[in-house]
Amino acid sequence: MTKLPDTVRLEGGCLEIIDQTLLPGQIKILRLRTKEEIYYAIRQLKVRGAPAIGVAAAIGVYLAALDIKVNNFEDFYDRFLLAKIYLNSARPTAVNLSWALDRMEKCLLNNSENPVDEILNSLKNEALAIWTEDIEVCKKIGENGLQILEKNSGILTHCNAGQLAAVRYGTATAPIYRGHELGYNFKIFADETRPLLQGSRLTAFELDAAGIDVTLICDNMASAVMRQGKIQAVLTGCDRVAANGDTANKIGTSGVAILAKYYNIPFYICAPSSTIDLGSRSGADIKIEERDSLEVTEMWFHERMAPEGISVYNPAFDVTDAELISGIITEFGIVKAPYAQNLPAMIAG
Ligand code: MRU
Repeated sequence: MTKLPDTVRLEGGCLEIIDQTLLPGQIKILRLRTKEEIYYAIRQLKVRGAPAIGVAAAIGVYLAALDIKVNNFEDFYDRFLLAKIYLNSARPTAVNLSWALDRMEKCLLNNSENPVDEILNSLKNEALAIWTEDIEVCKKIGENGLQILEKNSGILTHCNAGQLAAVRYGTATAPIYRGHELGYNFKIFADETRPLLQGSRLTAFELDAAGIDVTLICDNMASAVMRQGKIQAVLTGCDRVAANGDTANKIGTSGVAILAKYYNIPFYICAPSSTIDLGSRSGADIKIEERDSLEVTEMWFHERMAPEGISVYNPAFDVTDAELISGIITEFGIVKAPYAQNLPAMIAG
């Protein structure tokens, strides 16, 4: 593993995060205290990746609760809800955000008979439990994912579902890190992932720093490397899995899945069960975030790379149809089609 600090953590009464907008050039730790600072850190992708924003929001709503200086439960709950709704509005697609915040609210309600300082203590413990579970769950995804991978395989990944997208191990990278420990000799291809370059800035950075053989490719090169026989499996993370197995992940993922099907390469999604949203019936129910046009027109070059005033469509995620997904690797095992039947069964245990 890369010797990076944990991506998110509660330390000294603050949310500590690595500012991912500065990577790979600079490793800078930010110490955030207010809900506004935490909201903007999520919104501006200083902390990003579905599991990481869930953990950040859980710690964030705990820190916000510390600032509610009332002793009466009803008033405390009202203000907690305002902070929860505010943090939940930072980004729409990754369900881990609302999952973690709902869990924090449930914890509060389970303690409604207790004095406010005891409720605060329970909220802190719940945020820390969400943090610890993320580490354990990703480790299990690593063990389960390794079962479908052969030694010496070429593996393509898209965006960053690595340690920078979770607390410590990542989801799609967890089998890669585990295989690396066991001498599997994987050769990883990382899509650069336009427009925000999470693949080159984050995935290539963290895998390279961990001593893993990683080759960066532009998004339009995936077909060529598949055709050359360099890819034996595709592993990506995801932001929300609908009940029928349709899966939202970083824009470009569905194209990679279509290519993988054409070249007969298995395409696996890696996801903690907290990313499965049985409330979304299919991909059509998943809200896709649209982001600022400047991410496409001028953010990454010294000169503008598009005409002034050009219309831009900048969806941050897309939906991969369930039929393109060979399996969903979770902490409980690998779920296969029919997803509408097997996902609820896996969640129910
Ligand atoms: O916009 P981002 O960088 O938050 O998008 C992240 C992704 O799409 C990841 O692949 C996804 O959240 C899974 S992270 C384990």
